[in-house]
Amino acid sequence: MKLKRYWIKTFGCQMNQADSERIALTLEKQGYQRAASIDQADLIVINSCIVRQSAENRVYGLIRNLSAQMSKCPNVQIVLTGCLAGWALRGQKKTNLERLRKRVGPQVTIKLTEDLIETKFLADLGCLQLEDDAQADWAKIPISQGCNQLCSYCIVPYARGPEVYRPAAEILTEVNRFLSQGYRQILLLGQTVNSWKGKGKVKTFAQLLALVAQLAPQATINFVSANPWDFSDQLIEVIAKHPNISRTIHLPVQSGDNEILRRMRRPYTVEEYLALVKKIKQSIPGVKITTDIIVGFPGEDKAAFERTVKLCRQVNFARAFIGKYSPRPGTIAAQLYPDEVPPQEKKRRWWILENLINRKGVDKN
Ligand code: 5AD
Repeated sequence: MKLKRYWIKTFGCQMNQADSERIALTLEKQGYQRAASIDQADLIVINSCIVRQSAENRVYGLIRNLSAQMSKCPNVQIVLTGCLAGWALRGQKKTNLERLRKRVGPQVTIKLTEDLIETKFLADLGCLQLEDDAQADWAKIPISQGCNQLCSYCIVPYARGPEVYRPAAEILTEVNRFLSQGYRQILLLGQTVNSWKGKGKVKTFAQLLALVAQLAPQATINFVSANPWDFSDQLIEVIAKHPNISRTIHLPVQSGDNEILRRMRRPYTVEEYLALVKKIKQSIPGVKITTDIIVGFPGEDKAAFERTVKLCRQVNFARAFIGKYSPRPGTIAAQLYPDEVPPQEKKRRWWILENLINRKGVDKN
């Protein structure tokens, strides 16, 4: 019998990378072997991202290219999973799925990520590193799935559903497994990682993080993405107390203007964010803060953008992932506010922040 070979193409965030590793392991348990290249695969899994239109377009582009080649090899199977599949399958409206089916063609099977993984969270799961993984040295451990927050611009809650927390015991078992496999970098993952809640003795993310840090004194531990509103004093204390927890904290701010934050449904003000950063910097010497920012959100006039620039100067972020606002279908922002900042202006603002934060250039504006 001919050996079946698979290939996985992963788009987007670290959670998708972690999911792809788990899909790979499940496939190998079913007897598949990794193909040496995409054109040698019998099964191609596309793990998609739809956080912005540009990400979604890359998925369609890949499917178009593959479909053109596939006409010559009808036995190759393409499975589309990840957030595009989740969004279409979980959506209330059947039309989303029907439209997607039309768009990707009959040869593509659309499946939820969890349907491709043997069980949703598998305690004894190892880690199968994939070629396109820039963070191959990190043991990626999802501690939760989904998101309850409903930030107005964000499509992720519709694609991944509400928050589901993995039990502490299972997370700690997996940490141990990775340590025994030789991993020395542990990345705890969740769409809002510090919103994690436990049912037993370990109830908060701060408690969980302390246990992981104690279990792995020889490893570096990091976590993404944390949100400002669940960043408790206890969490700051735990980080301060354990030198093996990373001194770079990713804390998405999104905007430096209170009215924009309100429209984004981010439940904090600029003043609260700055106070949190101050507390973190005072408690954890040498800490670096990284962030996510959206430019050109509806209503962001020049003065509002200047307030974001001001906040960036105040915090002195070590790095920022800057995104141009992209209206996402079905989100609150897409329904309430027209996408009014012109593309050229979004680009201009993007460059100002990119130069200021990531290139540390002199910003003349
Ligand atoms: N447009 C632009 N950027 C977005 N992000 C999420 N949704 C959108 C959108 N509709 C960004 C946010 C988030 C990161 C993962 O992607 O900054 O923190």
